[in-house]
Amino acid sequence: VLPNKGSISCTSPSNIALVKYWGKRPVQLPENPSISFTLDTCKTETTLKYEKLENVSEDFQFELFFEGEPKPDFKPKIQSFFQRISEYVPFLKHYKFVIETSNTFPHSSGIASSASGMSALAYCLMQLEKQINPKMSDKEFIKKSSFLSRLGSGSASRSIEGPITIWGEHNEVEGSSDAYAVRFPYDIHPNFADYQDTILLVDKGEKQVSSSVGHDLMHGHPFSSERFKQANKNIIWLKDILMSGDLDEFIEVVESEALTLHAMMMTSLPYFILMKPNTLAVINKIWEYRKETGSKICFTLDAGANVHVLYPNSEKDRVMDFIKSELVVYCQKGQYICDKIGLGAKLL
Ligand code: PMV
Repeated sequence: VLPNKGSISCTSPSNIALVKYWGKRPVQLPENPSISFTLDTCKTETTLKYEKLENVSEDFQFELFFEGEPKPDFKPKIQSFFQRISEYVPFLKHYKFVIETSNTFPHSSGIASSASGMSALAYCLMQLEKQINPKMSDKEFIKKSSFLSRLGSGSASRSIEGPITIWGEHNEVEGSSDAYAVRFPYDIHPNFADYQDTILLVDKGEKQVSSSVGHDLMHGHPFSSERFKQANKNIIWLKDILMSGDLDEFIEVVESEALTLHAMMMTSLPYFILMKPNTLAVINKIWEYRKETGSKICFTLDAGANVHVLYPNSEKDRVMDFIKSELVVYCQKGQYICDKIGLGAKLL
């Protein structure tokens, strides 16, 4: 039975990839597996209001509000998301929806909100699906939430659970799949407990290249097959590191992955440089500080100029002193976000 009317509120976080997903094939399937830290503070909160229609509609009926304002320019993205998922959630055309969504991070911060936004919406829809199909197991619920999120934005599949998730099939990772992400299925070394991610907002401008254009540029890219092989190797390497707690090796694989992602963009046609001079200044400062102090600080990057500064919780005070005294000058308006490893989507 379809419930008549109601409202569901969920929150879902962003995530930061350690081994990067860059390159996809239809429909939103990754060319290589990826691993990420689920974040804690950078989140989307979404309320889904639903009202059953008298008759099944021809099209999807929804209104969208972002931070309290109607958002017509987000509608096509939701429209194509609904289109993609409708065969898996056949109740969509039986309802009129109002989607109210907001982010805990500033919207023009250059932080991608597609992972948190798409996973929050998928998670709300799954809560409705659970009311319709109460026999669904928790395991099935989580799996399908990640599956639907993936159809919204690939990396969104990794936001449903935490603290570390893997998306993409790999023969050395139990239960891994291209269709959805799974929680890292092995014991995580205590060195990674409460791992910190301070996000330096180096450049808050619009992305020069959308991630779908970026993924497409990996087709016919001169280095793509080597890159996919490397990512597969790095998954095994990082899997061992996450279990052994070797932070020197962690630094090596994570920084190499970040630079490789940008190297792929610099060597595609058309080519892009998404780092800014301040991105490089921050990287050099981090390297100097590490050399001088023996800190286990390192960086990673998304498809943009902002820098994610990663470090163990045990170093929090001294690294924050360093960030405030040496790195904040490179941030636009001195802005940064203190985040850390988190646990995934939840019902509010
Ligand atoms: O989920 P998308 O299509 O926006 O792709 C995101 C790709 C990167 O953020 C650059 C890397 C990743 O694995 O998250």
